[in-house]
This record gives sequence, structure tokens and C-alpha cells, in this order.
Amino acid sequence: MNDVYVLLNHKLADKEWKWDQSLFSDDKMEVMMKEYRRYLNDETKTAQGIWWSEMNKYINSFRGIVGDIATGLGSMFEKLLKTETDFFPIATDVDPNVLGWTSTKMKEKYQKEFISVATDARHFAFKENTFDYLTSLAGLNNIPDTTTVLAELYRVLKKGGKLVMMHSFVEEQSKSFKLAQEFNMSTAFVERFLIEDLNQVGFKKVKANIPSSAFWAENPMDGLPVAGDLQYFAIIEAEK
Ligand SMILES: C[S@@+](CC[C@H](N)C(=O)[O-])C[C@H]1O[C@@H](n2cnc3c(N)ncnc32)[C@H](O)[C@@H]1O
Repeated sequence: MNDVYVLLNHKLADKEWKWDQSLFSDDKMEVMMKEYRRYLNDETKTAQGIWWSEMNKYINSFRGIVGDIATGLGSMFEKLLKTETDFFPIATDVDPNVLGWTSTKMKEKYQKEFISVATDARHFAFKENTFDYLTSLAGLNNIPDTTTVLAELYRVLKKGGKLVMMHSFVEEQSKSFKLAQEFNMSTAFVERFLIEDLNQVGFKKVKANIPSSAFWAENPMDGLPVAGDLQYFAIIEAEK
């Protein structure tokens, strides 16, 4: 695979959701992104803008080796490559095809060196004490088995290393929460459950900073949240 280290155990990872490979052309990707943005209401766009401005402050403090979980099409990874701050970024995703696409695009646009590793966040293919920082945009909102993932992230962080991720929550009474339970992602979608999980796997100084919120509009391109539910845009910080 183009510039991607593939460290997947197929028996464990093959059931994970995969990108439709026919999307990986410039024209199709542009159409898909435009369509996705059309479904976002203005209040969500504003709330997400505030969320990103807040996250940029955290990114400027990153140092050492920085891993991005569930890189996908690379909205977060692009921010890591754009910053002048000196650190070494590593893109990761369970789907080697999306990682190949995103890595190629990023290499065309940015000079900063990086590597890409296809690995399942539930069986993360890195040694203990590897990362200074781990980050993600909506990674835990897309990966089942939240507690297993968090335990893996804890394992691979260095002592004193930090998890700093953009993450969204819904209300415990919401339709979105019920749906998340069906996907085995319920603890990731409610603030108090995620904080409990982070503490349970050993993280210290766990904080949720919620700079904005917005009601979610109908969006057939996203399984969650459910239209009409209030979504809270958070930055989660936790230290090993
Ligand atoms: C929509 S993306 C999240 C947005 C992305 N972080 C960004 O910055 O643009 C969700 C990604 O999660 C990945 N994913 C799903 N299950 C996973 C797993 N078990 N381990 C790692 N990545 C996974 C999917 O392949 C997909 O690329």
C-alpha cells in the first residue's frame, strides 16, 4: 500500500466499517464534501468554527510524537501538518485505503514529515510509552468498544503524555444516545460516562471543555446524532 504501513490483524479488523473505494477520486470527493456541508445548519457551522478555534490553541502546545486516531479524510491531520509547531505526526486508521488517499493528498500539500499506519484503535499496533500526545477528531464517536480503545490509548502514551481530542456529546435522554447504545458506542456519547471510562482505565486530570453546542439537522450521510438532538462540541483532555 502506497506509503502506508499496514499493521492489521484481519481476523480482528475485517468487520470494521470501510470507506467506499469508488469515492477516492478528486471529482467524487469534492461532490461528497459539498453535499455533506449542505446538510449542516448554520448554527452547527458556527459551533464547529468555535470548537476548531479552541482546538488550535491545544495543537500549538503539542510536542514530540503525536498520533492521530481515526484519521479518515484528515481534517484533524491537516491541522497537525499546517502548524509551525515542531512535532512528528503519525496518521492512523483501520482502513488502509482511506489512509493511502489522505497521505497522498497531504504529501502533495505539506512539507512536514509524517508516517501513516493502518491499525485498529482497539488493538493499536504501537509499543507501550510511544506517544507524547494523542489526538482525534470524532474518532471515539466512530469506533465501537470505547473502553477497549481508551485502554489502548493509555497503554501507548508515555508517562505524562496527553490525550487531547475533539469529541461530541449528546444528552443521556436523547434518541441519539439510544442509537449509540445499539452501535456499542453509548459511553462515548455522554459526557459523564466518557469521563468515568477515562478515569477507569487510569487517566488523570480528566477534563471536558465544551466551547459550543448546536441542534443537529437531518443528515442522511451521518448515522449519528439523530436530527433535532442537541450536540455539545467538546475538547477532552486527559493525562497518563
Ligand atoms: C469520519 S472519520 C473521523 C474524522 C477524522 N478524524 C478527520 O479528522 O477527518 C472516522 C474514521 O474512523 C475510522 N475507524 C472506524 N473504526 C475504527 C477502528 N476500529 N480503528 C481505527 N479507526 C477506525 C474510519 O475508518 C474512519 O476513517
